[in-house]
Amino acid sequence: MKITFFSHSTCMLEIHGKSILIDPFFSENPIFRNRKKNFLKFFKKIDYILLTHAHYDHVCDVELFSHKFHNVLVISNYEISNFFGKKGIKTYGINYGSFISFPFGKLKYTWAAHSSVFNDGTYGGNPGGFLFHTDEGNLYISGDTSVMYEMNLIPIFGKLKLSILPIGGKYTMDIEEAIMASDFLKSEKILGVHYDTFEDIRIDREEAKKKFYEKGKELILLEQEKTIHI
Ligand code: NI
Ligand code: MN
Repeated sequence: MKITFFSHSTCMLEIHGKSILIDPFFSENPIFRNRKKNFLKFFKKIDYILLTHAHYDHVCDVELFSHKFHNVLVISNYEISNFFGKKGIKTYGINYGSFISFPFGKLKYTWAAHSSVFNDGTYGGNPGGFLFHTDEGNLYISGDTSVMYEMNLIPIFGKLKLSILPIGGKYTMDIEEAIMASDFLKSEKILGVHYDTFEDIRIDREEAKKKFYEKGKELILLEQEKTIHI
């Protein structure tokens, strides 16, 4: 499994030859603002776009990508899928409670303690995360959330190779909560996201890595467009 980090919560997964874009946030992202249109050139192929919730910093470029890649399938909760379905985009709406099989593996929509509304006020359903069970390993993406006891359920379904957790605080978990979360998840390797994009979610990267290390965990913080193989 290949994971490329862009900025904020935006990642691209490559599993079984399928390209899966998570929470695309480029055009309104202050980090990409100076090279606005250029980010599309990076992408040769996208098969799926997965959306954790309806906040603009997770969904703002869905239409742009679906215009470039006509066959892309948007997977999210029922309400978000409906929202984009009405715009003529291919969608697949799911909700909490089961694994669903896709060509890249099994996918489960998981609970998140957050909120979910589109910029125009449209209700965005319950926020969530994604649990992947694949031949190439198991991966958990929590989405924007605080730490919560429900995370204890995740490792019962199977051992995780990696967890992708927000660490920037204010709107989501901070470093301390993300360490608690990784204990609940029985996860040793964490890719940190949702930090440094805005002034109010800045972190000290070295300090953050040290705090995880002291608890026997590895916090991975990737530069933009850097890839890891797990
Ligand atoms: Ni959010
Ligand atoms: Mn967010």
